[in-house]
Amino acid sequence: MTLALSRWHAFNAWAPWTDRRGRLHPLRVGVLAALSLPPAWLALRWANDALGARPLQTAIHSTGYWAAWVFLASLLVSPAKALLGMPNLVVVRRMIGVGALCYAVLHLLLYITDQNWRLGVVATEILVRFYLTIGFVTLLGLGVLGVTSSDGWVKRLGRNWKRLHKLAYGLAAVALLHFFLQSKADVSQATVAAGVYAWAMIWRVLPAGRDRGPAALVGLAVAAGAMALVFEYAWYRFGTRIDPLRVLRGEFDLSFGLRPAGLVLALGLLAAGLVELRALAQTRFGAGLGYTVLAYLLGALAGDAAGLAMGWTLDDVAPEGQPGPVLPGPVLPGPVLPGPVLDVAWFALFALLGLARYRLRTAWQRHIVDALWAGTALWPVLAMDAEGRPLGPASAAVLLTGALLLTRRLWPVSRHAAMLVVPLAALAAYQAIALL
Ligand code: HEM
Repeated sequence: MTLALSRWHAFNAWAPWTDRRGRLHPLRVGVLAALSLPPAWLALRWANDALGARPLQTAIHSTGYWAAWVFLASLLVSPAKALLGMPNLVVVRRMIGVGALCYAVLHLLLYITDQNWRLGVVATEILVRFYLTIGFVTLLGLGVLGVTSSDGWVKRLGRNWKRLHKLAYGLAAVALLHFFLQSKADVSQATVAAGVYAWAMIWRVLPAGRDRGPAALVGLAVAAGAMALVFEYAWYRFGTRIDPLRVLRGEFDLSFGLRPAGLVLALGLLAAGLVELRALAQTRFGAGLGYTVLAYLLGALAGDAAGLAMGWTLDDVAPEGQPGPVLPGPVLPGPVLPGPVLDVAWFALFALLGLARYRLRTAWQRHIVDALWAGTALWPVLAMDAEGRPLGPASAAVLLTGALLLTRRLWPVSRHAAMLVVPLAALAAYQAIALL
């Protein structure tokens, strides 16, 4: 019994969801859950034959896509930590990096499966096809970084550890080249990823003290957008027969929403806005009810703003008589509320979340409301992705937050937040039924 208990403690101290003392660490739990959602969603869709005619191909693309974005996310931890004044973010950096490695390994395994496990063929393909060779180089690099990320290796390598881990900057560039090369004619997604990479790298070379503040962050957003334009131009100019100027002109035509460079600029501006909002939270005004409710209401606009950025008219976002802005996706039979009623309900929900956030006192309770807010604000945004890729993870995030709230551990300490689960659970149930 004691042996079992001590094993359990040892396991807990080692497990990725706990801190060094073996206690549950909310941030780690959240990040681990977020990292596990895309493969879980992929597996669910695969099991339901919902991956199209060539599920293996779809799965290869999906895992590659997530490997690249999770890798980029690991490069965004340092700027987020510094700009948002959240030093505790560092505890999840290793997990995110190892997550990228896991995605990349899964991606390779799926590719090998696609080649019917003929390892000789796989090796030859990797050797002769340049885009596969560099994918393999990235994977090896991620492997080295993953293995040397343990505490033991950090100690053993001392100062050299930091130098070695700077390799990640170069590897991410190679991963992006792999992303571009396999994209062929349409490099929109790769360009957005490259623009985000440019943002993270330019931020790193800004002189200390000039790497924050609204002017610096707006400048950074413009520079990252400009770099995305350069990548796009270079790709079409040197990599295809398509006229690059035609593509660049498309960047300035907003009738179909933002093109990749515009999207990078918008994301950069969004980051600048969030940093300012966070800074304002630390002032006297930030301690008041007005700030909290205002900040949360801004979240309610996220769906519509994203709709405009994607080029949908507001009619598409909220088709007449359909619950567009609240729940994009298949419409269930039953009573249909008009768009404006749902808009008001949506705003009311966010105002209520803001109110609850203001009333709650402990950090735990506030984190829960924040998570609910983020999940709810992001849901329609993510669900509007044309391919519906992140729809599953987003709905699952809301469900998961609801489930967490309903556990006995949290229930007694968070009555306000628990009450808010009711409308969210209804929304989640609606979406879950619509998906099946
Ligand atoms: C041995 C290593 C690798 C192999 C054999 C490999 C192979 C592939 C293949 C076959 C595709 C699809 C190409 C097509 O359908 O034409 C692909 C796409 C992709 N791979 Fe890899 N890859 C490797 C490593 C990586 C790594 C390490 C990353 C990122 C960290 C990555 C990111 C991507 C991305 C972003 C895509 C495009 C996904 C999309 O369509 O959105 N790959 N890879």
